[in-house]
This record gives sequence, C-alpha cells and structure tokens, in this order.
Amino acid sequence: MHGTTVVITGASSGIGLHTAIGMAALGATTVLACRDRGKAEAAAADVRAAATGGEVHVVDLDLADLPSVRACADELLARFERIDVLINNAGGIWSPRRVTRQGLEMTFGVNHLGHFALTSLLAERLRASSPSRVVTVSSVAHWFAPGGMRFDDLQSEGRYIGFDAYARSKLANILFTRELARRLAGTGVTANAVHPGPVRSGFGMDGDLGGITGLGNHLMRPFEITPEAGARTSIHVATAPELSTTTGGYFARSRPARTAPWARDDGAATRLWDMSHRIAARAGLDLPDVVAAPH
Ligand SMILES: NC(=O)c1ccc[n+]([C@@H]2O[C@H](COP(=O)([O-])OP(=O)(O)OC[C@H]3O[C@@H](n4cnc5c(N)ncnc54)[C@H](OP(=O)(O)O)[C@@H]3O)[C@@H](O)[C@H]2O)c1
Repeated sequence: MHGTTVVITGASSGIGLHTAIGMAALGATTVLACRDRGKAEAAAADVRAAATGGEVHVVDLDLADLPSVRACADELLARFERIDVLINNAGGIWSPRRVTRQGLEMTFGVNHLGHFALTSLLAERLRASSPSRVVTVSSVAHWFAPGGMRFDDLQSEGRYIGFDAYARSKLANILFTRELARRLAGTGVTANAVHPGPVRSGFGMDGDLGGITGLGNHLMRPFEITPEAGARTSIHVATAPELSTTTGGYFARSRPARTAPWARDDGAATRLWDMSHRIAARAGLDLPDVVAAPH
C-alpha cells in the first residue's frame, strides 16, 4: 500500500483505530477523520508507531453536522492529491432518540447520511485516483430490519427503538453501497460493505445506550472478538488484489457473505440515494450528483 492514501472515519477508537493501524503497517498514508481532536491525536500516535513509511494525518469530522462533513471533504481535497481508499467506518447506536445539528435522527444522520455526503463530495477525487475503493462498515444487524427502509419515516419520528434504528442504518449502508457501485461501474472505483463481526469495542459503551439494548450489549462482551480482529475484514476488502474489480458486495470474515433479501432491493437503493440527496439539500448541503456512467 506504499504510495496510497487511505481515509478512515471514526479512527479514534475500536475497529477504525485498528483499521488505521493495519493500513499504516502495510505502508499506506493514513488520514484519521475524527470528531474528537484529543482522542484522534492519541490514536494517531498509535498508528505512527505501526507505520512502515506512510504518513499519518488527522482531520476533523463530525458526521452529526453536515457543515463539518463539507469542511472535512474540502480539507481532504486540498491536502491530498489522491484518495485511494475511503473507509466509512464511524458509527454508533443511540437510545433514547437524539438528533444531529441539523435535526436529523442521529443513527440515520451519522451512520448513513454523513457518510453518504462525505462519499459524494470525494467521489470525483476517488475517480481521479482509480483504481480506488470505498469500504463501508455495515453490520449483520441489517438482518433485523425486515420490511426494509421505512421511507415514510426515515427520521424515526413516529416510533423510536435504538436497535431498530441501528439495524435500518446498517441496511442503509448496504443499499448505499449497492447504488454507489452501480453509479461508479466502469470508473475503476469499487464500493463494498463489510460486517466486522461482534467486536469488543467502545460501541454502545459510553452511556449512549440505555435500557434492555444497553444491557444486552454488556452481556455480549465476553463473547466478542478484539477490535484488531474486527478490523481484518475492512483491511482485506480495502487491499486484497483479487478484489480489485469486485464491487457492490458484502463481506464478513473476509469472505463474501449473504445479505438479507431487503438489502438486495435495487429500487430501494435508488430511492434511498435520491431521498438522501434531497434531505442533505434541505439541511443546507448541496451535494454533487454521482452520475452513473452511460452504458
Ligand atoms: N462493535 C461491534 O460489535 C460492531 C458490529 C457490527 C458493526 N459495527 C460497526 O463498526 C463501526 C465501528 O464501530 P466500533 O465497534 O469500532 O465502535 P466504537 O469503538 O464506538 O467506535 C466508533 C467510532 O465512530 C466515531 N463516531 C461516532 N459518532 C461520530 C460522529 N458524529 N462523527 C464522527 N465520528 C463519530 C467514534 O468517535 P469518538 O471516538 O469520538 O466517539 C469512534 O471513533 C460502526 O459503524 C459500527 O456500526 C460494530
């Protein structure tokens, strides 16, 4: 990976930090896109200790604030001539319901819309750097979103259950990946989603998660894998030579994995894309369209 630049969101802890460490160990220049500068600088020190030639940089990114997403993209475009890999890793689960700076439900806003916006803003640079890859960290939790996206209530205003919102946001990650792959077909930019496994990270542990879901999260911890092991699938999909043209896929344990039927709905993928574009515009962020190549 020497000579490549890899941007990783949410690299301040957990899977993202270990993804950054793994990519730096392979020689990539890593860019840690994080919301907490202090945590990010501490993480960057760990990444530098593992680096084998590439540089390590930190940029500010709060996915719960669309102007911050725009500022992050502008900074990345100004500072880095190439972006070879974008790893949309940051994410969380919240209960009770919270909202982003623009009033969007937090799980939808951070896990899906923030990454949708960041990827759209970086798409041209990814194209110019091709062959390049977008890896989005989803979850097996998308199986718990039967019925698919709730297009009549994407902000969960009618009813809110933290795990339910989370499952739908992870479904959104896969639908986004499918539509991105379709739009970028033939450009040399691939888009794939991953499930990292059940990982003993900071996930849901910082007081963001109450009630029965929070209790379940604590009880699962002894059975979970380390963040280092949880980073392996992201690193594999971002780097494996045999996946250089594989796109629109979903991976777990570094192998292709089966998605739920509602994650294979291409109509829903296009609809989510169009609605996300409009939601961002209504919130004040006009995004460039990522246009499908003519066939
Ligand atoms: N842990 C699991 O079992 C599991 C299973 C399946 C999928 N996943 C997925 O794996 C990804 C990484 O999670 P993790 O397990 O490593 O959890 P984690 O240790 O809690 O890390 C989450 C990362 O996301 C960042 N983040 C949260 N809100 C953000 C925001 N508004 N803007 C920018 N960054 C933000 C956090 O930043 P701070 O450090 O500032 O909080 C942190 O760096 C998530 O997408 C999650 O859905 C995890």
